[in-house]
Order: sequence, then structure tokens, then C-alpha cells
Amino acid sequence: MVDIHSHLIPNIDDGARDKAEALSLLRMAVDEGVTRMVLTPHFHIGRFDNSKTAIFESFFELKLAAAKQNIPIELAVAAEVRIDAELLYLFEQGRIPFIGSYNNNKIVLLELPHSHFPPGADKLIKWMVGHSITPLIAHPERNRDIQKHPELANKLKRLGCLLQVTSASIVGDFGTRAQDLSEYLLVNKLVDVVASDAHNVKRRPPKLREAYNKVASEFAPEYAEELFCITPKQLTESLFI
Ligand SMILES: [Fe+2]
Repeated sequence: MVDIHSHLIPNIDDGARDKAEALSLLRMAVDEGVTRMVLTPHFHIGRFDNSKTAIFESFFELKLAAAKQNIPIELAVAAEVRIDAELLYLFEQGRIPFIGSYNNNKIVLLELPHSHFPPGADKLIKWMVGHSITPLIAHPERNRDIQKHPELANKLKRLGCLLQVTSASIVGDFGTRAQDLSEYLLVNKLVDVVASDAHNVKRRPPKLREAYNKVASEFAPEYAEELFCITPKQLTESLFI
């Protein structure tokens, strides 16, 4: 599997606390069947003010530590970017890490707040799409407005977004609403990628296999392959060259 959303870089956001935890998480990912992983620390203005340079420096440190421990996993880095009006300026300055490319567009892993669908988000998304940037929306199933109005997910797709659902939502770890919306998105073929959004060993491990098996048995094995392996690999291929 190819896991393209995770918070394993230590001391940079609310993910892994130290190098030991990061390495444990990588080993857990390998045990789940992950062969490639994109580490995506929060890029959240005012909360996690991580510059692209700081993210890359911390990433290379962890990559080296993983190589020294012979952990059999390929690693790359990007970011989970919280939606903000200031992004327009940062995109123009080349200061946002992209997660890959798709149909000649660059892809950004874009996070909405959990509480609501922010006014003006559709305008910002249209601006991005108009500038050859495709937003890959992180865990739309956890957004309360989309939970109340699932058709907002259809709207995001119509605007040109891709959707990433989190594996823990599919198996019910984020509650019934997130699970029900995941089901709606899966049934209606609105999901492009499933990823772990792993943060730590205890509460939010890189758990993918259970969700993979659920999608394979409830829908089709080919569908699970597409969401957990084929599409995430295609979208992020440029990071691994
Ligand atoms: Fe995340």
C-alpha cells in the first residue's frame, strides 16, 4: 500500500513526539503492508508555522535514521496545508510543498477546518484550479458541514478537487457520522485515495489493513487496490523520482 497522509516527522506538529516514536510508526506501517509513505506535517498558519525548508530538513533527518535501522519503506515529504486566504500569496511565492502531480496539475493536500465549510473556500479552490493546482481534500468525512450536507462533497468534486478519506473513519474510529459519510463517499465513487493520517502509536497508528479489507469485501478487491495502492502511487510518483 502507499500511504500519502501522515504526521511522523517528530517535533514539528501534533504527530510523533520524538525519533523513537517516528521509527516505531514506520515499523507499524511496514507491518500493515505499506511500502511507500509520504510524510505530511501540518502547514497551518498561526498554529503550526512550518516553513518548507524546516519540513524538508527534519524529513531528511528522519529518512536517514530509518535507513540506518534498515526499515524497508520508501519515504517522501510534502505537507497537509490548512485552507487560508494567505495561501494565494504563498503559492505564488513557491512556498507550499506539493504532494504530487496529476494531469499536468500540481496537487496540494488541502485541509478544511473540522467545524465548518469556510465561506469563500469555493472561491479559493476555483483560484487554485485556475492556476493548475488540484486540491486533494484531506478527510472530508470529518467535516461537520459535509456530514450534515453530503452533497458538499459532490460540489468539491465538481469544482475539480480529489478526495482523501482516512482509513480510521471507514472502520468507525472517528464515530458514526464520519463512518456514515465515508460509506456515502465510497458508494458514490467520490473517493480517490484512502490514507492513514497517522499521528502516534497509541491513539492514531498507521492502521490501513482493516479498512482495506472492509472495502475489498463490501465493495470489490479492485476498488480497494485502486484507493489504497494504485491512485496514491500515481498521484505521488513525482516525489519518488
Ligand atoms: Fe493530517
